[in-house]
Amino acid sequence: MKHVIKTIALALATSLFANAQTTPIKVNVAQPVSEIQPTMWGVFFEDINMGADGGIYAELIKNRSFEFNKPLMGWKIERKKAKEGDVLVQNRLGSQNSNPHYITVNLDNTPKGDLGLTNEGFKGIGVKKGLRYDFSVLMRKQSGNVVFHIELLNAKNEVIGSTSLTPSNVGNEWTKQEISFNATDTEQKGKFRIWFEGTGIVDLDMISLFPSDTWKGRKGGMRADMIQLLADMKPGFVRFPGGCIVEGFDLNNRYQWKKTLGPIEDRQLIINRWNVEFAHRPAPDYFQTFGLGFFEYFQLCDDIGAEPLPILNCGMACQFNTAEVVPLDQLQPYIDDALDLIEFANGDVSTKWGKVRADMGHPAPFNLKMMGVGNENWGPQYVERLKMFTKAIKAKYPNFKLVNSSGTDPDGGRFDYLNGELRAMKADFIDEHYYRRPEWFLQNAGRYDSYDRNGSKVFAGEYAAQSDHTVSVDNRNNWICALSEAAFLTGLERNAAVVNMASYAPLFAHAEGWQWTPDMIWVDNLRSYGTPNYYVQKLYSLNKGTNVLSMLQDGKPLIGQDSLYASASWDKATNEIILKIANVSDKSVTRDVALDGAKKVEAVGKLFVLQNNNPTAVNSFENATNIAPVESTIAVNAKAKKVSVALAPKSFNVIRIKTVK
Ligand code: AHR
Repeated sequence: MKHVIKTIALALATSLFANAQTTPIKVNVAQPVSEIQPTMWGVFFEDINMGADGGIYAELIKNRSFEFNKPLMGWKIERKKAKEGDVLVQNRLGSQNSNPHYITVNLDNTPKGDLGLTNEGFKGIGVKKGLRYDFSVLMRKQSGNVVFHIELLNAKNEVIGSTSLTPSNVGNEWTKQEISFNATDTEQKGKFRIWFEGTGIVDLDMISLFPSDTWKGRKGGMRADMIQLLADMKPGFVRFPGGCIVEGFDLNNRYQWKKTLGPIEDRQLIINRWNVEFAHRPAPDYFQTFGLGFFEYFQLCDDIGAEPLPILNCGMACQFNTAEVVPLDQLQPYIDDALDLIEFANGDVSTKWGKVRADMGHPAPFNLKMMGVGNENWGPQYVERLKMFTKAIKAKYPNFKLVNSSGTDPDGGRFDYLNGELRAMKADFIDEHYYRRPEWFLQNAGRYDSYDRNGSKVFAGEYAAQSDHTVSVDNRNNWICALSEAAFLTGLERNAAVVNMASYAPLFAHAEGWQWTPDMIWVDNLRSYGTPNYYVQKLYSLNKGTNVLSMLQDGKPLIGQDSLYASASWDKATNEIILKIANVSDKSVTRDVALDGAKKVEAVGKLFVLQNNNPTAVNSFENATNIAPVESTIAVNAKAKKVSVALAPKSFNVIRIKTVK
């Protein structure tokens, strides 16, 4: 009996203690703390992991212009009888430096099937049954007549789509020949083949094949399923074109936006720095063709309602590679690139660069408001170059905002030095990067709680929880990484007065062509899926709100007490209170949330839950929504203006509660 009484007393004490621990969480609805910028949640795009070529740029032919360092890389010559010089690689160095190579095909009463070229595509060619494919080629004729027989092949080399093209109006000037045809079957790892028939000598360049189901149906456009995943997030900004490709492994290899404009055959390709970066992930066929260039990036931003955020080279190559710098007295062309970019994006059509934009089909300005100078650059060499850029840009465009680099890491000597220098310079935005273990994200949910509200704003420009370690091939886009990011991001939202922009990185990866993992969206030649990390980003972006609300328990923000992380916002457009709560423990937790100061609330709210009990669970091509938000409703005590929230183990929860006027 004594024992029973003792047990009951203990249970009572425990429950009283538990209640004492769980005072309601209080959201102050009456007094929003600060604004949340429309740019808050954006995306970071880089041509890494076959993000552009072989990725969102829908071109299916690899090395279409024979400009790779091995001019026939990706191509195979099909010959019945060997004949010297029947397919010759020509190099017109000097006369047309941006695209010097082309091929000459020499035919002598050649029947179909005797001489041809096969292209392997980017890890194969994805072909869709019934879809129209648009073939084009630049050609000129030296003599005779030739017919092209064009085929799509499946993995067994069977024809799954074909047509024939008899070129018209061809002389000794380059002309574009085009023809379209439909595929008769679906294939993940298809190939492209062109047979030559006739007698004559012809020169060929820019052999191209695009699917017709591109984003917005644009000819030569982007892969629609990949762009749709971005559009669905309604990102506040798109950062482009990277990443390390901005810097290049040396200065010659840096990204130069002016070389990415105009007719695609004049855009000079360069080796993609990810081609050679990792010995353990070699990608000898990775080049940047720039079929997707700055005009197309701006157009994409326009399409999906995101602010463009271009990042330009600051006169320094990647400091992990050559670390070349441009002498200060030779920096002006780099600064001119920045000034000219603003004119290209915003200038009147009567200006030099505004006219280039208009000639490419966009007379209206793109309304560029900000750009980054330097990617992950560091040290005094960066600061002295940045100062020169800043002075020149601000002199001409005083209200234009600049993003400055704080280097590769969110702490340590390099970061501290830059953070100090940049704040002293009154930088508009400081770009912080964190590729860290999930624990770091949990431990740093309060990182910005103490940041100066009146100083430089933060752009959390690249982050991703690493299940193993940075650049490990074993990193996975698993649930514990995504959940720890969700927990950390409550701290970014709570501190939207300081953090104005944030983007996960990298964005895309091809399942067979990646160099870096984890990545937000994975694709193969036909399919794409969002990782759990994608769904975290999407939940934040679609449930952003316009103002931060204070959300405290026992007077403190939730940054890990009882394994909970939380933030709240107000959406003035829809009159909704939005709560975000991550429970990273493996136990269910229930909490009362008091909506202090709310005038009248609706009795039913919306609830979105991302949850999985298994920290190593992932999404995949086969199970693309294994971890994806589940929408339901939640009862709200409208009278008491309270909501009782049952938080499942290892869950991220978003609740929207409408207030009534
Ligand atoms: O996102 C991958 C790389 O990580 C980026 O190119 C670079 O900025 C960072 O080091």
